[in-house]
Amino acid sequence: MIIEPKYKGGILLTAHPEGCKKLVEKQIKYVKNNKSYNGAKKALIIGASSGYGLATRISLAFGGSKTDTIGISYENGPRGKRTGTAGWYNNIFFKEAAEKEGLKAKNFVGDAFSLEMKDEVIKYIKEEFGKVDLVIYSLASGRRKDPIDGETYISALKSTTGDIVGPTVDLKNDTLIQQTMENATEEDIKATVKVMGGEDWELWIKALLEADVLEKGARTFAYTYIGPKITYGIYKDGTIGAAKRHLEKTAKELNKILKEKLSGEAAVSSNKALVTKASAYIPIFPVYATLLFKVMKEKGTHEGCIEQTHRLFLDMIYGDNPIIDKEGRYRPDNLEMEEDVQDKVNELWKQINENNFKEISDYAGFKKDFLQLGGFEVEGIDYSKDIDLETYAKLIP
Ligand code: NAI
Ligand code: NA
Repeated sequence: MIIEPKYKGGILLTAHPEGCKKLVEKQIKYVKNNKSYNGAKKALIIGASSGYGLATRISLAFGGSKTDTIGISYENGPRGKRTGTAGWYNNIFFKEAAEKEGLKAKNFVGDAFSLEMKDEVIKYIKEEFGKVDLVIYSLASGRRKDPIDGETYISALKSTTGDIVGPTVDLKNDTLIQQTMENATEEDIKATVKVMGGEDWELWIKALLEADVLEKGARTFAYTYIGPKITYGIYKDGTIGAAKRHLEKTAKELNKILKEKLSGEAAVSSNKALVTKASAYIPIFPVYATLLFKVMKEKGTHEGCIEQTHRLFLDMIYGDNPIIDKEGRYRPDNLEMEEDVQDKVNELWKQINENNFKEISDYAGFKKDFLQLGGFEVEGIDYSKDIDLETYAKLIP
């Protein structure tokens, strides 16, 4: 089968296994060629198959203390004409590479929000893996079944300050179009907090504590985004911002508990805006990203997932130069938030239109990153080659 990128709006529907493999290898190579740090011995990464979670796992295993990892994700393997999801392949190729170096790399594929998953993972830690000293919460999901009330909540990417009209990229036609982010209902806000807030993170940490599978000094981090003023309407003041505030509140509560019980730590890390499966889907956000990338690439401070994540662990979480704000948040987004960067982004935001967007923004870079989420547009891959999905279907994550 010849695999081509197919996408609908900001969602990729196909994935290319060879491209995914190459990109996992590229990230591994990046951290191996970089400075390393004295990090976790055994880590649990919730949301480990793509984006920030995958980069975290790679940095820890190959650029840290050769961390043994458990990765949880929700992905699908190939079936019939369906290629399977990129995260499915990322799990497989990460594990292959880690095991080759003698590291433990266990994948759990299923619903991290469920109590069954928590039980299964805890059982595995107890019986085979050993206590963990780091838990990373990097989930991004559109829905969550609350295991306690049994209800399924659907998150909404909406505004809370009235309808917002703004430009967005049409990736299929390579055009700039206007898009409306609708105003949320109370119900939307509540559901988004349920899905993307800290409730599930808290359930995880409490379950792990209860089962006594956290090492003394254990630390846990969840990823958040704050972003500049220009994105407040769609992010900070939107439904997702409400969820992230709940996540931050949870961090403070968990920090107290972990400090007291294990001399541990809980915090959020506010990461840089990047193209991932989750962010490509936020209305209007892609245009901000195309302008940010342009400015940061010109300044020489642009980072992708692996560069950003590796710096977070190397300099901040396991390093001597943490940037922590007065709310206790780690701030690897410091380079995105620099005043001159944001001034330039603001200036370009005022100018951008359907005629000039390819010149004044890094649309090309953004689109490439987007296609690479599915393993496309990767150098050295022959995309005209027939891919035997049945062989790939036999690989076990
Ligand atoms: P992503 O879509 O690449 O990763 C999400 C992960 O969650 C995947 O591994 C996926 O399989 C997993 N997942 C989703 N639902 C699941 C479920 N029910 N059970 C088990 N696993 C499930 O997204 P990304 O961007 O890496 O997001 C991770 C975190 O980083 C999110 O909290 C996001 O808000 C945050 N973040 C993202 C930024 C960005 O620009 N992409 C910027 C700053 C923070
Ligand atoms: Na992730």
